[in-house]
Amino acid sequence: MKFFVDTADIAEIRDLAATGLVDGVTTNPSLVAKTGRNFIEVIEEICSVVAGPVSAEVTALDSVAMIEEGRKLAKIAKNIAVKVPLTWDGLRACKALAGEGTMVNVTLCFSANQALLAAKAGASFISPFIGRLDDINLDGMELIHDIRTIYDNYDFPTEILAASIRSANHVKEAALVGADVATVPPGVLRGLANHPLTDKGLELFLADWKKTGQKIL
Ligand code: G3P
Repeated sequence: MKFFVDTADIAEIRDLAATGLVDGVTTNPSLVAKTGRNFIEVIEEICSVVAGPVSAEVTALDSVAMIEEGRKLAKIAKNIAVKVPLTWDGLRACKALAGEGTMVNVTLCFSANQALLAAKAGASFISPFIGRLDDINLDGMELIHDIRTIYDNYDFPTEILAASIRSANHVKEAALVGADVATVPPGVLRGLANHPLTDKGLELFLADWKKTGQKIL
């Protein structure tokens, strides 16, 4: 499973990218707004730090303007994935941009049929929002499972990018049902390595090691 980090905070991205475990970055207008910075500058900086796909979202609502915005974003760097919403205009823009060789991430996906359309439109990534479905008492993970089955039935190459991930359990469940990518907020990503028994075990090992009086270096 690939890990993307779901933030526009460059300090967080630099810190996590240094682990070598970050395969890409996703942003959205809300995440960019949180930084208080210029959108294009932030995306340029992220692309200079991370070699994998960096999602940058259009804000136009009609397909013609989305395509124009998408072309401008795609020029920022080779690893830009233009993010478009799952509307008919977004699907038209996806088809056009994908036809020009641009990676497209179709976002705000809440149903399997929407995901089917995105794959047919040539999306590189489909972003089903797990947490927001769970928020309204639906099952986000069931959606990932359904999309996995449909994409496998027809050999669609579109990658399933589990989004709106809120917890470590979301990451585990998304991996179990076969999502290709999880885009994870920095705090959740860091939490994946934590276990109290790891901390306790390390403490005991080091206490015993100290008793030996030895050093490795
Ligand atoms: O990747 C999509 C994500 O940014 C949305 O997450 O927590 O706002 O639903 P959330």
